[in-house]
Amino acid sequence: MSNLSGRCRVCNAQISAFMSFGRMPIANGFLNEREISNEYFFELAPAFCSQCGMFQLIEQPQPDKMFHGHYAFYSSTSRYMQLHFENFANKVITDILAGRRNPFVVELGSNDGIMLRHFHERGIRHLGVEPSVNVADVARSRGIRTISSFFNRKLAEEIVAEHGRADVMLAANVMCHMPDLPGVAAGARRLLKPDGIMIFEEPYLGDMIAKTSYDQIYDEHVYIFSATSIARAFAPHQLELVDVAPQITHGGSMRYTLAPKGSRPATVRVAEQFSRERVQGLDDAKTYLHFKQNCERSRAHLMQTLNELSEQGKRVVGYGATSKSTTVTNYCGITPQHVEFISDTTPIKQGKLSPGAHIPVRPYQEFTRAYPDYALLFAWNHAAEIREKEQAFVAFGGRWIVYVPDVEVIS
Ligand code: TMP
Ligand code: ZN
Repeated sequence: MSNLSGRCRVCNAQISAFMSFGRMPIANGFLNEREISNEYFFELAPAFCSQCGMFQLIEQPQPDKMFHGHYAFYSSTSRYMQLHFENFANKVITDILAGRRNPFVVELGSNDGIMLRHFHERGIRHLGVEPSVNVADVARSRGIRTISSFFNRKLAEEIVAEHGRADVMLAANVMCHMPDLPGVAAGARRLLKPDGIMIFEEPYLGDMIAKTSYDQIYDEHVYIFSATSIARAFAPHQLELVDVAPQITHGGSMRYTLAPKGSRPATVRVAEQFSRERVQGLDDAKTYLHFKQNCERSRAHLMQTLNELSEQGKRVVGYGATSKSTTVTNYCGITPQHVEFISDTTPIKQGKLSPGAHIPVRPYQEFTRAYPDYALLFAWNHAAEIREKEQAFVAFGGRWIVYVPDVEVIS
């Protein structure tokens, strides 16, 4: 591993990577054969800041390499996620917006409008901020007000000037994408009303460590948050962590509620979460060395399984060309010799090659047309939905290969 060190994006302390996943392409950088020679790589190496507790990448590609006019991730592809965001929106409407006059809701990273549509449908004033133009266009075509920009303090000023301050700011699986977290926090403080609330949910560090779900680490996820690191990152901007709520989405997430300092009391759940994080050792450097060993063990076990199946001439197909799978295929060294193709329902990924590993991505119909012997469940965070849907595959004798929390072959 090269000597990878840098400065913490939040507190500016010196940080060093505790491991490297090696040369990594853009997680959503699905490509054609002719684009292979120009494929972009960077070193994927995570660090833990012992000063402020923020888990982060040392190096991250330029944002415009990841979020652009052909961003391959459309939130609304999962039925469970649609339901999840409908429930999230309904909770905001009943718990926070009820009784407020002409409230204004802003969502950062609103993607194709999966959450904001519920506000739009009820005639609630809303604004999405979504830098990836193609997904923002889908939202706009549904009548959801969306601007294509990166959120920061300056944009917050512009939004306030045009629409006034926000009652609620929302984000889901977005804050961990924003390298300038202090700028986002300052912008949020500017944009929120004095009694405003900010709620966001992101993959949770405690789950990642407990499950060795190292595939949460990829270019877009510049941070993996904990309650402790969120509280410390927002405090200098007079925003206080007042509630936390664990979520099962994305393999284990945490929903954080923040409010202008002193505007409302913190629930007991916040202190309880801080204490759980101390017990889990999330602020202890040794925890991350242990995590590194668990990643290495997981990689060895997965490759042993895939190599054995390949020697036996078994057909293995990947299920879900997820962003996370890019870390797994490249870190483990999975090739088209191990995995014939990856089945995915997203049209713009189909017919392309997976980033770095260059495994062909094919439409879902190819999976059902001739079931393979094994399906490698890259979309493990959607396991409940998928296993329910794929009972015919198992009835046919197909088996699942999973790797979170452990490498296992299951029916
Ligand atoms: P995500 O894990 O980043 O949410 O990405 C999920 C990917 O998996 C997305 O490209 C769509 C694909 N997918 C399927 O192909 N079939 C499915 O049943 C589900 C839930 C997802
Ligand atoms: Zn720090």
